[in-house]
Amino acid sequence: PSPDLLSLYQPPLEALLVVTDVFRASATILSALYHGARSVRPVATEEEAQSYLNQPQYLVAAERNALRCDFAPLGNDPEEYTPEIVRGKHVVLTTTNGTRSIDMALQLGYRNLCVGSFGNLSRLVRHILSKDYPEVMVIAAGWKGTVCAEDTLFAAALYERIAKECTVSSSENIATEPDCPLTYNDALLFPLEAYRLHRDDLCSYTSRFEHYQRLERLGRLATIPVCLEEDRYPVLPYWHASGVLQSL
Ligand code: MLT
Repeated sequence: PSPDLLSLYQPPLEALLVVTDVFRASATILSALYHGARSVRPVATEEEAQSYLNQPQYLVAAERNALRCDFAPLGNDPEEYTPEIVRGKHVVLTTTNGTRSIDMALQLGYRNLCVGSFGNLSRLVRHILSKDYPEVMVIAAGWKGTVCAEDTLFAAALYERIAKECTVSSSENIATEPDCPLTYNDALLFPLEAYRLHRDDLCSYTSRFEHYQRLERLGRLATIPVCLEEDRYPVLPYWHASGVLQSL
C-alpha cells in the first residue's frame, strides 16, 4: 500500500515494512550506504535537514519536487553519492515522498523497517527468507499520495523472487499451494501481471509513467537505469533505534 493506507491495513507491529521509492530515494539511500556512508538519517522536513548544516560529520541532502533544495549540498541522485563524497559520513536526507513514507511508518510504531528497491533485491530476499516475520509489507512511496508504477512493480518483483525461492510455480497457480506463505490481492496481482510482461525492459515500460516523465523533463534520465538495475547496491538499509538507517 501507499504510506497513507498503512493505518488501514494495520500489519502487526512485528511485521517487516519494506519502504520503496524506486525513482529515486531508495536508490539514493542504497548508493550512500554501499559507497561507505556510515548511516542515513531520514528526516521529514526541510527545517530538520537544515538543522544539520555546519556539523562536519553530517552531509545534508534534500530534494523537493525532484529538485535539489538550494540549502543542501547534495540532492537525490544516487550517482552523486560517490565513495569520495560519502565515505565515513552520516547522511541526513529529506525527500518529497521517500523519507516521508519512512516517517509515517515510524509514527505508527513500526521498527522492523528497511529500504528496498531493485538495487538490493537479492539482499532483501535473503534477509526475508532468513527471518520469521509474521508479515512483510511493501510501502510504495508513490508521489504525494498517488501510486507510482515503478514502486508497485518493485513490490511485484520482490513477490516474484520470493515465490521463486520458495520453489513455488510461477505459473498462474502461483501461491495456491497449501503450505505457501505468500498471499496477494488485486493491489499486487495487477502490477505482477505487468511486471511479468515487461521485466526484461523496465526502462522502456516505466517511460509511460508519470515520475519517469517528470525526471525526463528535468534532464535526469540517466538515473533511470541506475535505479532499475538489479543488485547494483547489495546492502540492506535497516532502521536502527538511534534514528538512522544502517547497513545490516
Ligand atoms: C521522492 O522521495 O519523492 C523522490 O525520490 C523524488 C525524486 O527525487 O525523484
